Amino acid sequence: MTTVQRAKRLDLIPPYLFGEIAAAKRKAIAEGRDLIDLGIGDPDQPTPAPVIEKLAQFARNPETHRYDESSAGDPQFLHACATWFQKRFGVTLDPDTELLLLIGSKEGLAHLCWAYVDPGDYTLVPDPAYTVPKVNTLLAGGTPYPLPLTAENKFLPDLSAIPTDVARKAKILFLNYPHNPTGAVATPEFFAEAVRFAREYDLLICQDCAYSEVGYEGYQAPSILQTPGAREVAIETHSLSKTLNMTGWRIGFAAGNADAIAALNKIKSNVDSKQFAAIDRAAGWALLQAHQANQTDQAGQADQADMGADMGMGATFALYQRRRDLLVEGLNGLGWRLEKPQAAFYVWLPCPPGYTSRTFATALLEQAGVLVIPGLGYGEHGDGYVRLSLTVPDDKAGERVQEAVDRIKKHIPIRW
Ligand SMILES: Cc1ncc(COP(=O)(O)O)c(C=O)c1O
Repeated sequence: MTTVQRAKRLDLIPPYLFGEIAAAKRKAIAEGRDLIDLGIGDPDQPTPAPVIEKLAQFARNPETHRYDESSAGDPQFLHACATWFQKRFGVTLDPDTELLLLIGSKEGLAHLCWAYVDPGDYTLVPDPAYTVPKVNTLLAGGTPYPLPLTAENKFLPDLSAIPTDVARKAKILFLNYPHNPTGAVATPEFFAEAVRFAREYDLLICQDCAYSEVGYEGYQAPSILQTPGAREVAIETHSLSKTLNMTGWRIGFAAGNADAIAALNKIKSNVDSKQFAAIDRAAGWALLQAHQANQTDQAGQADQADMGADMGMGATFALYQRRRDLLVEGLNGLGWRLEKPQAAFYVWLPCPPGYTSRTFATALLEQAGVLVIPGLGYGEHGDGYVRLSLTVPDDKAGERVQEAVDRIKKHIPIRW
């Protein structure tokens, strides 16, 4: 054990609620209980086989074995990202100035705080939300100002409710649509309002688009960069993690405002040395192939020559949809009034009367063997909810989800 004092900033990190859940999970597994894990949001299906083949192929090229000395990331990857962005969103980006490789979007969100937040600065952080922007604002000495997301406002922040002095002191407005944990989506009108707000108060928008490709019944999430004027005030983070079942590969990118890209790159180039180029190139290839295959699917074309390699992602998203339907319909059968989320892979479940998010999560775990995440873990306004993930280990066609609903019915006393 060392007696060296750790930096005081570590004390600013709020208690890690997910640690409690992980401990409860370990205990239940050690006791030999059959847990249905609706906790972590991590695709349960493997990375598509063609991507792994491509990785092996690129890894055999010694050119990929050395430091990446490019300015913003492997040029083949960034060009693939630019092509994908143009095809997917109709937005043309300059790969030299408007794109930056990220070691997953988590890394980019964290370092953006370090690039912009000085002690005394504010960031505007939705609540509930993925915790990385809030925690890194605190670490950088800033103040995360919570923007409550409620069912009444369709989990979109009310920008008009932000006090003027806070808006003036704020450097970054963080957004994330499709949204973790609520599954909410943003309209182009909301993005336009956010861009107006950012211009009025001279702040940067960071829109986390990690779930852009996970949509149901044809839903396709917009990019904020499609909004007129957005490139002057916004960057958007993208990720291969959920798009192609590649969470462990750690690859994503930031797109948009050139000054913000340069600021983020300045931090990053003093912290990391980019990513293994074989991963970058396989990821860039996969992004384009998956898009092409998806377009071909939607157009119902039979011409094999026009098809991207079959990434099987249609099957992954169809499986999430089946689980979503079983879960939402099953829970509505028990008295909830849930709408089916259009995107992302979460069901944001209000706790029944008499429960907080913590007591409900504990009851589900201990009495029904169903693991969920208490909403409080995503912020104060997440209390009163639990998050159920549709990425369910050992579930082939929704049978574990059905079992979860059956166990809740049998073991959890609910009085509406
Ligand atoms: C909203 C949100 N943003 C970012 C991430 C991190 O994604 P990545 O794997 O690209 O770092 C997650 C992961 O769960 C997430 O839910």
